[in-house]
Amino acid sequence: MLNKLLMSCIDINSPYCPCLLSQTNHCTFCSHLKGELVCDCNWSGVCILYEKQWQQKKPRWTNDADSPVRLESDTEFIIKQKIAEHTYLLEIEVLPALAQSLAKCGSFIFMRRPSDQQFYHFPVGVMKVDGNNIQVVIEGAGPKSSRLFTDGNRQVLVRGPYFNGIFGQPWIDNVDNGKILLIAGGMGQPPAVPIARKLLTNGNSVKAILAPGKIGTVFIAAELAVLGIQVQEVTSMRQFGMHALAEILADPEACPELIVSAGPDSQHYGIIAAMQAAGVNLPMAATNNTTMCCGEGICGSCERLTRNNSRVRTCKVQADFSQFIQE
Ligand code: FES
Repeated sequence: MLNKLLMSCIDINSPYCPCLLSQTNHCTFCSHLKGELVCDCNWSGVCILYEKQWQQKKPRWTNDADSPVRLESDTEFIIKQKIAEHTYLLEIEVLPALAQSLAKCGSFIFMRRPSDQQFYHFPVGVMKVDGNNIQVVIEGAGPKSSRLFTDGNRQVLVRGPYFNGIFGQPWIDNVDNGKILLIAGGMGQPPAVPIARKLLTNGNSVKAILAPGKIGTVFIAAELAVLGIQVQEVTSMRQFGMHALAEILADPEACPELIVSAGPDSQHYGIIAAMQAAGVNLPMAATNNTTMCCGEGICGSCERLTRNNSRVRTCKVQADFSQFIQE
């Protein structure tokens, strides 16, 4: 039985805590570092107030606009595979420390052309880490991502690591020897790969339902099957995937302990609706699709409203996706 998820900050217990928000009294976790007088946090094994007091002042806390906030690699990428029109699997060699820190599922990076302005940075989930090489899948859809490929460019500036790519991460980390249903559609497929690997490491049995989504192709089925996952491909998640889900939820023998939804928010909400229709209430981890600009809890672009009427910055805050108000 998985526990109810308490909101917390993904950067606690990482080298990136305390962060810039502790400087401005906007820490997402520590009440004192929000300007309150009373100590009132969900203790997570570390006191951020003391860490801020005693840790050496970090270079990224200075007012120098050019000092990097996280690790940065000015490097090149190669296109390993064209997956669909405008969608490519890229391999990028990055700093060893950056590659190592991206091995955890839910990790993502920001990318842009090194010669472009800061605001061209866009977030991308990491699909695989192999030595110092990372693999990501990019859909060259908007002005930022498509710019990476214009004029035959192969230069890229990678900034990271960032960790909050999946809501419900503690469920994925802590479930063991369980039955898991992994539902992945379209561009949800790349983050589904490290999630599947993590779930298998903990002795879980995983069934996957995969759909092509807007990019029009399923490209991780063979990889998941090799790992020992039972894969069901459907041509449309809305039409056939949700039907398959309803059948699984109606069968007590097949009903999973945890559902992982990797795909657009419409898919996440479709699964919640299917659970409500079946009268079951399972924990659901879900990929984080919010628009991100800074990744540091500063700009507010990733803010979402919760059922208890609080606004959380989802680049930092771990939460149960079902607690977000549908927008
Ligand atoms: S991306 Fe800027 S606050 Fe989250």
